[in-house]
Amino acid sequence: MSDGATLRSRVKDDRLSLLLDLGSRLHREVGLDDLLREMGSRIARALEAERATVFVVDAASGELRSRIAELTELPEIRVPPGQGIAGAVATSGEAIRVDDVTRDARFFAGVDERTGFRTRSLLAVPMRDARRATRGVVQAVNKREGTFGPDDEAFLTTLASQIAMAFEWTSLRSDGAPRGVWVRGPYNHIVGDSPAMRAVYDVLKRVSPTDATVLLTGETGTGKGLVARAIAANGPRAAGPFVTVDCTTLPEALVESELFGHERGAFTGADRRATGKIEGAHQGTLFLDEVGELPPAAQAKLLRVLQERRFERVGGRDPVDVDVRVITATHRDLAREVRAGRFREDLFYRLRVVELELPPLRARGPAEITALARHFLGVYARRHRREGVTLGEACLAAMAAHRWPGNVRELEHAIERAVVLCDGAVWPEHLGLLPAPASERPTDGVTLPLGLSLEEAGRRYCEAVLGAAGGNASEAARRLGVGRNTLARKASRRTDG
Ligand SMILES: Nc1ncnc2c1ncn2[C@@H]1O[C@H](COP(=O)(O)OP(=O)(O)OP(=O)(O)O)[C@@H](O)[C@H]1O
Ligand SMILES: [Mg+2]
Repeated sequence: MSDGATLRSRVKDDRLSLLLDLGSRLHREVGLDDLLREMGSRIARALEAERATVFVVDAASGELRSRIAELTELPEIRVPPGQGIAGAVATSGEAIRVDDVTRDARFFAGVDERTGFRTRSLLAVPMRDARRATRGVVQAVNKREGTFGPDDEAFLTTLASQIAMAFEWTSLRSDGAPRGVWVRGPYNHIVGDSPAMRAVYDVLKRVSPTDATVLLTGETGTGKGLVARAIAANGPRAAGPFVTVDCTTLPEALVESELFGHERGAFTGADRRATGKIEGAHQGTLFLDEVGELPPAAQAKLLRVLQERRFERVGGRDPVDVDVRVITATHRDLAREVRAGRFREDLFYRLRVVELELPPLRARGPAEITALARHFLGVYARRHRREGVTLGEACLAAMAAHRWPGNVRELEHAIERAVVLCDGAVWPEHLGLLPAPASERPTDGVTLPLGLSLEEAGRRYCEAVLGAAGGNASEAARRLGVGRNTLARKASRRTDG
């Protein structure tokens, strides 16, 4: 094959595998910045360009947002609506091809000035979904030989629309926005931007690239399973297996054989050798959910796996070596289980090399509850073919005031239920929220979640006083020591996200 033919066939391979890989990566809990960055460098390769960037249009602000790997000094590019060539593409929805940007008045030189990179030729195409709405822009810069041609434009346009449609399966979805996507957090499928969740992402980002054993704690439904998958999906073992064992669903007699496997004849009915889940996780990640339920014998064997990466199958003598990363989760207070003699202390310390506690939903603030509710509304409206369902103000207020003992899972089920039961608009009664048990309800007062702004806390307090005064504004104002106008203003300002 001539050099030219080899290059053409490599480019063709690059273009094909790009489309194939995209789908599988987007289904995981990957970091979205890394994903956009990786797509950028692969698109650059497939187009024989020096650089390519995937911008998303932020539905909230209309800005174009992107991250670029090579530019550590400029970690995120934000382009105001309409600015530069990419901005023009986002606004018009039409592709733009430029052979020499110095001759194009639309070109915005600001980024080049800050980075020292020199843009010559450029191809920018809109990411449009099946509804032809623009969700982002893909831009390739500096064709290595010559300039970008109509073939490049056709390929990139197809790829960009595939990406726009694939986004509908991620948390970068449009959910009814006329343009752009909702940017709800840095990880795919994990919604949340509150300070409490930011702290979780900080740890997640640090531990993912390592092999450190992580113990995830937090109330039921806070997302421990989701975060375990995110740690694996963003680490060096991402391509290896991810094996989950739920220790609550295993009958005690079977736990050991399930985890470690057994030899033929190990017990009645063991008519052949079986490998366990730990062997199945070789070179990947083993996620032990509800590790606090593990019986003592299995705890001892697990300790040895963590210390020596070695164990024996049930009924076997030959040691088996494994290379696994272990992540565990529990809703129990393991330190207390240790004190009560139900959990091995040495195992406890091995498991909590890094401990990551997921915050309860009520500590994340009303803006995040709203963002999660809208996220699930998008998911279930599509699943149950009820596009166009909306959440009203009254719902948002009811959700902000609820305690959420079942956390995100409870919210998810409330929204799914509401999507099915409502017609068009969701009202608080569709959510089926159970009132807190009387013992947890203040007899005379109001419970405010942490994470509210002072203004929002004040508003809710005023509303509660108003309620306690039977809706009599003069009486409520007297109790609060303010005038009626001040009360009306304070009680009606709503802040939701
Ligand atoms: N931040 C989040 N964004 C989007 N979905 C979430 C988030 N947190 C949790 N979920 C969803 O809520 C549900 C419960 O999450 P998950 O199973 O990870 O919780 P858990 O902490 O493991 O609960 P349990 O202790 O009961 O096993 C899942 O469907 C999960 O996808
Ligand atoms: Mg779980």
